[in-house]
Amino acid sequence: MTPPLYRIRGLRVAFPDRSRKPLFGAAPMVEALKGVDLDIARGAALGLVGESGSGKTTIGRAMLRLIRPTAGELVYDGVDIADWDEDRLHPLRARLQMIFQDPQSSLNPRLTIGTTLMRPLEALLRDGDRAGRRRRAAELLDIVGLPRGFLRRYPHELSGGQRQRVGIARALALDPEFIVADEIVSGLDVSTQAQILLLLRQLRAEFNLTLVFISHDLSVVRVLCDDVVVLSGGEIVERGATAAIFSAPQHPYTRELLASVPLPEIEHGWIMADSSGSSDT
Ligand SMILES: Nc1ncnc2c1ncn2[C@@H]1O[C@H](COP(=O)(O)OP(=O)(O)OP(=O)(O)O)[C@@H](O)[C@H]1O
Ligand SMILES: [Mg+2]
Repeated sequence: MTPPLYRIRGLRVAFPDRSRKPLFGAAPMVEALKGVDLDIARGAALGLVGESGSGKTTIGRAMLRLIRPTAGELVYDGVDIADWDEDRLHPLRARLQMIFQDPQSSLNPRLTIGTTLMRPLEALLRDGDRAGRRRRAAELLDIVGLPRGFLRRYPHELSGGQRQRVGIARALALDPEFIVADEIVSGLDVSTQAQILLLLRQLRAEFNLTLVFISHDLSVVRVLCDDVVVLSGGEIVERGATAAIFSAPQHPYTRELLASVPLPEIEHGWIMADSSGSSDT
């Protein structure tokens, strides 16, 4: 058996609870993750679902070491990076990327799309001149199905779907192998959601990505993910193959989640629709 790309054991993350901060002294800690065990195979697409506040984003941020866990092991590609400082993490940063929920706020409004896409290349790829970086930025737009003319545009000139494509392009800039996508289609209309999901599915195959796809919406996860993990209150309450979870949810919480999801749209095969156009408005 090949070892998992990511092996997570006993992952705990606690935050100071500012709502209960006393006048003097430190705020009490609140546990967002209470001991999570998870194996993610190379090339897998894992769905992470759960209600608001269940700890989905916190797991994603811990996996990318954007936050330091309170306890536990984060064994990425055979090495425990849970305690690594920024200097040690630096060479790994290119391989681990996040796509954020709201490209409106994660894209700098003052920078052109071209500059946004070239930034990570400057920071982590020292080789290559400006022309080379510009070529790579143009290539990234091709990859996500946007016209090259967008290099000179600003985020506010783009639609929500187009901005999310830029967010995906930025995540791909440094040839990552592991990507956490956090609620990247919420807030988009259903047909734009479908186009973005299809794009991600193509990219996953094309670039051999290992994907963690976070969503509060099980119907979205179903399109992309082979396996699903259900979080509740900072703990995993159910896990399994996506199809199995959908046909026979075991945990009462999962049944609830499933019951609250409007499935009809995907039952009628909208996700199979042609994806060649990127005409989201
Ligand atoms: N930086 C932080 N400081 C303090 N508490 C935090 C912080 N980040 C998250 N939390 C708390 O940790 C818990 C889990 O939050 P998290 O954002 O991971 O949930 P989520 O499942 O992503 O929710 P949502 O679906 O709303 O995005 C919540 O109780 C939240 O208030
Ligand atoms: Mg979240």
